[in-house]
Amino acid sequence: MELVRYEKTAPGVASITLNRPDALNAINMAMRDELWTYLQAAALDPEVRVLCFYGAGRAFSAGADITEFGTAPSFIESRRARHDRDLWALLEALPVVTIAALHGFCFGAGIELPLYCDFRIAADDALIALPEVTLGYIPSAGGTQMMPRIVPPGVGLGLVLSGDRIDATQSLEWGLVNGVVAADELDATVRDLADRLASRNGESLAAAKRALRQGLDLSLDAAIARDTVSALRQRRASL
Ligand code: COA
Repeated sequence: MELVRYEKTAPGVASITLNRPDALNAINMAMRDELWTYLQAAALDPEVRVLCFYGAGRAFSAGADITEFGTAPSFIESRRARHDRDLWALLEALPVVTIAALHGFCFGAGIELPLYCDFRIAADDALIALPEVTLGYIPSAGGTQMMPRIVPPGVGLGLVLSGDRIDATQSLEWGLVNGVVAADELDATVRDLADRLASRNGESLAAAKRALRQGLDLSLDAAIARDTVSALRQRRASL
């Protein structure tokens, strides 16, 4: 069985499904490799403008596979592997719009992956947590940095330090998800959003996404200057 399924589901739309339901889609090293391959496939395919993430079974993902913790041959090798294949940086910089369909448990990397997405739509049964500190770690897929860029920093700090679970309603209140729908409407809602976005110009979507994501880490003056140059480049390319 494929641990990760990649499909082109509609014009302009592809989907990635975490497909290890017996382990609540816990992300193991084999899945990371497959995700790496499919993210590159989506990034390189000019037909793909929107990429949706789903979890098979009763969870989006219960996080990194805890049975693999501490199994790397050495600390240096594990850092090298991460450097050579920086999955999260690839996802963050993906030149397509990304949407995560959250349901059931979304713990650890199971919410860190969606934090890199442009939209997070939650089913009303979604439960979200960064439990790493309760296991003696810190969120290592970027949760410490991404969470407070999405929710208010004080809320993000509270989530990281406590490891507490929050439900879909609380997630919506704090801006962690863009919307909450009944569990049986989740896939259709995400499909509709994806179709709507995919009907737009792919270059504009990618440029707007880049402007926001890169601009937020610059001063306002520098970010606006960057936008002006990008807009001119885009106009020139369309002449
Ligand atoms: N890594 C590896 N396996 C995991 C996993 C994880 N993060 N999360 C769940 N699983 C596996 C369980 O070991 C179990 O496997 P088994 O059937 O072979 O025993 C299977 O998924 C189902 O999980 P189970 O614990 O029986 O389901 P539950 O509904 O009782 O509890 C959770 C669900 C999510 C509360 C619980 O599985 C859990 O706490 N998982 C760990 C979550 C975590 O700490 N993630 C962050 C890692 S940084």
